[in-house]
Amino acid sequence: MSEPKKLFIKTYGCQMNVYDSERMAEALGGQGYVETQSADDADMILLNTCHIREKAAEKVYSELGRFKGLKAEKPDLKIGVAGCVAQAEGEEIMRRQPLVDLVVGPQSYHRLPEMEAKTRQGAKALDTDFPEEDKFERLKSRPKAKRGPTAFLTVQEGCDKFCAFCVVPYTRGAEVSRPVDRILTEARDLVERGVREITLLGQNVNAYHGAGPMGDMTLAQLIWQLDKIDGLERIRFTTSHPNDMGDDLIEAHGTCDKLMPYLHLPVQSGSDRILKRMNRSHTAESYLRLIERIRAARPDILMSGDFIVGFPEESEADFQATLDLVEEVTYGYAYSFKYSTRPGTPAAERPQIDPAEADDRLRRLQALITRDQRSVQNSMVGREVKVLFEKPGRLPGQMGGKSEYLHAVHVDDANVEVGDLRRVRIVDSAANSLRGVLA
Ligand code: SAH
Ligand code: SF4
Ligand code: F3S
Repeated sequence: MSEPKKLFIKTYGCQMNVYDSERMAEALGGQGYVETQSADDADMILLNTCHIREKAAEKVYSELGRFKGLKAEKPDLKIGVAGCVAQAEGEEIMRRQPLVDLVVGPQSYHRLPEMEAKTRQGAKALDTDFPEEDKFERLKSRPKAKRGPTAFLTVQEGCDKFCAFCVVPYTRGAEVSRPVDRILTEARDLVERGVREITLLGQNVNAYHGAGPMGDMTLAQLIWQLDKIDGLERIRFTTSHPNDMGDDLIEAHGTCDKLMPYLHLPVQSGSDRILKRMNRSHTAESYLRLIERIRAARPDILMSGDFIVGFPEESEADFQATLDLVEEVTYGYAYSFKYSTRPGTPAAERPQIDPAEADDRLRRLQALITRDQRSVQNSMVGREVKVLFEKPGRLPGQMGGKSEYLHAVHVDDANVEVGDLRRVRIVDSAANSLRGVLA
């Protein structure tokens, strides 16, 4: 038998890309590839890219440039670009960087094996279609290998919301939900392979409406189906849109024990004027009332969110409204970004604000967010949480994992193993993690 070919995948961007990279590795496994952790000994390099901000997209080209020497040494090396930059820029990538052999958009990953074969014949391969067939169905190769205690599972993909700043509706296409039975089969398979926590993924995951045995199911109904799987201990989902937060999903946060008390609910701005210009179709007030209802169902839920500062036309008063909203919510985690102009999106055509002003606002917002993150994390000291242990910590004898609230927790205890779910009393809070002892 010939030696297996080696595949190096580098993943950028969101969790869906992480999930997709696993699927691509499995698909190419059928072509005789095994994964390697270094580009140097690879026969194929795949960059799974992100187009969300300009910096993310440009990084791809500097990364590709670095493979020049490698390709010169090894003419058989194939270089591919997948993900959202592939979808957005297509053929242009090969024009800008001729050493690229293959460009594949997120909806065409099931065609990778044929595309790889084409590059082996010396041709270039390009596919950025939005095909009719079910890529997930064709992507399941499923080697029964053991895996770690946590996993992602894509249940919904694409977005019909068209926020004025965002490329996702163009790179991932229209919203599509996977059928319930396929998701349950995949979840059971993950659990058989050692997974105890599943994070359901979708660009608009709470808009999920997949076909079930008796008509479409909501995300909450899907979660209740997953709840029945023995051995699955924890369920999470991301990312949600405020407008799709159904009553049954809010209720599930209070009644489903396996559903973790953490919710990522991006708001983007606290100014109604800006929200409108962003095409967000919710107000600051409606968002705050929604959080009130969620907290009524699950008082200890940890809220997380996303913000954009420096959106076109954002005034100091608009920005102040964002700070006020952050003060009111007290996020346990929040991610804030300086607005990045994305070609082809409606906001790109509008007058942009002074970048120095935007930098200053970003600094001020991040200071406030950091303050709240710290205080929420510090408030865990003295409490008992449950930790799913994922990997050894930095020091010998240490084991690290995540609490229900997604805080990183480590214990110094040689008796704890990867995959254990244990009660832990928190004794200390450091910059980015908590320290605990088994309770
Ligand atoms: N589907 C998710 C997240 C999409 S991208 C949602 O609807 O919330 C993740 C985050 O990137 C967004 O929430 C937003 O805060 C940020 N983002 C998206 N486009 C951006 C842009 N053009 N500039 C800066 N940040 C952006
Ligand atoms: Fe982008 Fe808005 Fe869709 Fe989220 S809801 S993916 S921010 S267009
Ligand atoms: Fe980036 Fe595409 Fe995800 S643009 S954030 S990789 S959906």
